[in-house]
Amino acid sequence: MENSLGRLFTITSFGESHGRCVGVIIDGCPAGLAITEEEIQREVDKRKPEANISTKRIEEDKVQILSGIFNGFTTGAPVCLLVWNKDVDSSEYEKIRFLPRPGHADYTAFMKYGGFNDFRGGGRFSGRITAGFVMAGAIAKKLLNLINIEVLAHTIEIGGIKAEPKGVEEIRENVYKNVVRCADLRVADEMVKAIAKVAEEGDSIGGIVEGIALNVPVGLGEPVFDTLEGDIAKAILAIPAVKGVEFGSGFSSAGKRGSENNDRFTIKNGRIVTLTNNAGGILGGISNGMPIVVRVAVKPTSSIAKTQETVDLEKMESVSLAVKGRHDVCIVPRAVVVVEAMMAVTLCDFAMRAGLIPRVIQ
Ligand SMILES: Cc1cc2nc3c(=O)[nH]c(=O)nc-3n(C[C@H](O)[C@H](O)[C@H](O)COP(=O)(O)O)c2cc1C
Repeated sequence: MENSLGRLFTITSFGESHGRCVGVIIDGCPAGLAITEEEIQREVDKRKPEANISTKRIEEDKVQILSGIFNGFTTGAPVCLLVWNKDVDSSEYEKIRFLPRPGHADYTAFMKYGGFNDFRGGGRFSGRITAGFVMAGAIAKKLLNLINIEVLAHTIEIGGIKAEPKGVEEIRENVYKNVVRCADLRVADEMVKAIAKVAEEGDSIGGIVEGIALNVPVGLGEPVFDTLEGDIAKAILAIPAVKGVEFGSGFSSAGKRGSENNDRFTIKNGRIVTLTNNAGGILGGISNGMPIVVRVAVKPTSSIAKTQETVDLEKMESVSLAVKGRHDVCIVPRAVVVVEAMMAVTLCDFAMRAGLIPRVIQ
């Protein structure tokens, strides 16, 4: 079950970067959800590469529904969604088959699978598999809509350039107005320039994505091992290049006093809320009714044109490697919609476990 996630809303990821296709199977999707190929396509289009800052590999990524949706409604049977791999050039990967790229999964995959793994384009470890995550996310978001839960994500840092905190309205409004998916339009250009600069230097940069879930009711999460934060973290850490996840005040809470970090309770319009949200919407692994706020560290792309030391796994000798081929200079902008998707998939599973989303949508 290593390629599956979720208890009731279960997604199974399949495909490789240079294989025939990548996609997802959703088992446990309630029947009666109205959904079209266009709606799923809109989400998938948000992770497409943007000129100058992303890979030059341009895939059409036309969503195909293979099963589980009939006459515009989910049927309750497994939903299989995929996109074909068309713009494939494996030549650069054949040349470095035995030269693991520093920072990539080439070495661990080679060792674990005895060299049988499909190494072309990073194979199973390519960011390309996240097209399947996003397709599942499109369905999960639609199901969450039924109970008024909204999931958003935006870039808050790239290459050390930090965005000013923005309200939900501005995030909704601005994120897809710029190629770096940043709600702070003042720094978005600076981020684009920083990416262009490192690209010229044959290098790469990383950054931070923030995910937010709104209107999550109190009570989602199954302590002690299926906590809401544990499962959201697991889903997000499955996104290639994600190396850190924090909720609310996260790592900075370690340096605070209890009196600073505690979110005090109060009553607003008859509802119990907290005055601050250092908990990021989760206490004891259970949603507390405040927005769920997760910040996600995305590392700089490992495949870079700068020459680096590696080893030849066949000859067992040291060699230098300058990675060629087509790569994202900064993964952060493309990871934004993927973070949204993984939050949505996890929340959908927990909402179903709590009985908030029925097996048949009427
Ligand atoms: C949308 C997306 C695009 C990516 N593009 C690239 C890329 O062009 N080149 C690259 O080396 N890694 C890319 N990655 C990251 C690698 O797949 C990842 O670093 C690698 O599998 C090793 O896994 P880890 O970084 O999680 O340890 C991308 C990741 C995502 C989510």
